[in-house]
Amino acid sequence: MEVIDLDTLTRTESTDKQLFERLADDIALQGYSVQESGVPIELAEALWFHLQSMPKSLFDPAGIGRQTAHQQNEFVRRDEICWINGESEAGKSWLAWTSELQTFLNRRLLLGLFSFESHFAHYAPGDFYKRHVDAFKGEANRVLSIVLYLNPGWLADDGGEFVLYQDQSDLSGRKFLPRFATLVAFLSEDFPHEVLPANRDRYSIAGWFRLNTSRPNRVDPPR
Ligand code: OGA
Ligand code: MN
Repeated sequence: MEVIDLDTLTRTESTDKQLFERLADDIALQGYSVQESGVPIELAEALWFHLQSMPKSLFDPAGIGRQTAHQQNEFVRRDEICWINGESEAGKSWLAWTSELQTFLNRRLLLGLFSFESHFAHYAPGDFYKRHVDAFKGEANRVLSIVLYLNPGWLADDGGEFVLYQDQSDLSGRKFLPRFATLVAFLSEDFPHEVLPANRDRYSIAGWFRLNTSRPNRVDPPR
């Protein structure tokens, strides 16, 4: 017979809820949130172990724009990515957790988040992603961006900071180190951001919650 430890179950659920609440409060107040230990530690560890086991051939050079507009531009971004489809156990747990987050944020902030897409990203030493926004005003596709960092033992000297700018006119921004299990969330249209080059391999998961922009004669695929 399977024995379920109710104590652990309740504890995990309530910590998730507290974290979701902090995220929602920050987003309502300032449009973004940065949380150390931003996911359950078991989830971060499972994703990290999975990443270690992934063959390099699963990663492709990242592009810019979608479908026909899709182009690679090595002056803008140099990372390599692998989309998460829930084929692995770790990927499944990640999608289950982000789905809980989506439900919570929809209830709390009425964001109308409908779908979620995400990929692993690997930045080799010297790789970068220049200042950009994840969605353009009026297109209303990507609403909320999240980034989870999977770099154990990251030091300030390692570089690779994520820089978040308040708006288009902000030129200095705030810098954050891509430390293990740190989660960043921000409104996709409002915050320009960039990835500075690092001195070592840098791993993250970038994800986007989207609205349902399908029409009767036009199905909008998640990517
Ligand atoms: C992105 C992105 C940030 C990061 O993939 O759009 O901004 O720190 N990633 O990996
Ligand atoms: Mn981005």
